[in-house]
Amino acid sequence: MDSFEWNKIFGGVLAGLVAVLGVSIISDMTYTRHVPEKPGYEVAGAEEAPAEGAPAAEAEKPAAFYLASADVAKGEAVFKKCAACHNALPGGTNGTGPNLHGVVGGPMAAKAGFSYSEALGGMKGKNWDWDNLWGWLKSPKAFAAGNKMSFAGINKPEDRAAVIAWLNSQSASPLPLPAAPAEEAPTVAEAEAAPTAETADAAPAK
Ligand code: HEC
Repeated sequence: MDSFEWNKIFGGVLAGLVAVLGVSIISDMTYTRHVPEKPGYEVAGAEEAPAEGAPAAEAEKPAAFYLASADVAKGEAVFKKCAACHNALPGGTNGTGPNLHGVVGGPMAAKAGFSYSEALGGMKGKNWDWDNLWGWLKSPKAFAAGNKMSFAGINKPEDRAAVIAWLNSQSASPLPLPAAPAEEAPTVAEAEAAPTAETADAAPAK
């Protein structure tokens, strides 16, 4: 074979390689790679596992926890959400919703001249204590299914506490805000235990 023959052979091999490369490029462009959205294996409970810790950490504390440190000034701002339907003025009129003066600690569904839904009217006789107001403003629907307050509820517990505290401050005789729940007790105990421990340490030195 002379060099001309070799050239033809090399040329052929090269052309073949180019052709293969071309086909692979075109097929790559044509068929997009399918990456599964979920991994092919599924471990039962795997999705719940990480979720378990997170919501627990964010779980809402009892109403008193937030009420004890409620921001009354912020509550006045939060009340703007309510003002389309309510006022809290002494002797104020009923609007879409009843007047809310003195509502904190007061009787439920008791404002004269307001026609309550059966859902809320049915609770007449109970009081708007901290916990009832807390539940109502968290989710009116969950508290009294079928009520006619077109309001989804206040999501942030701090805002809920603030508006309740502000409503309370508007009352003729505001109630003392609830004390922070006993949860803090261990911290106090720890703090008190610390000096005791020091004293104990110091004792043998005598
Ligand atoms: C779209 C109008 C509307 C908005 C906004 C609204 N409410 Fe109401 N609210 C009502 C109506 C209507 C009722 C009576 C519900 C019923 O009879 O079922 C009511 C009832 C109440 C009651 C019970 C009063 C009673 O006499 O027993 C309270 C407390 C209350 N609302 C607080 C609030 C607060 C606080 C906000 C804002 C965070 C708010 N509402 C936002 C319409 C509204």
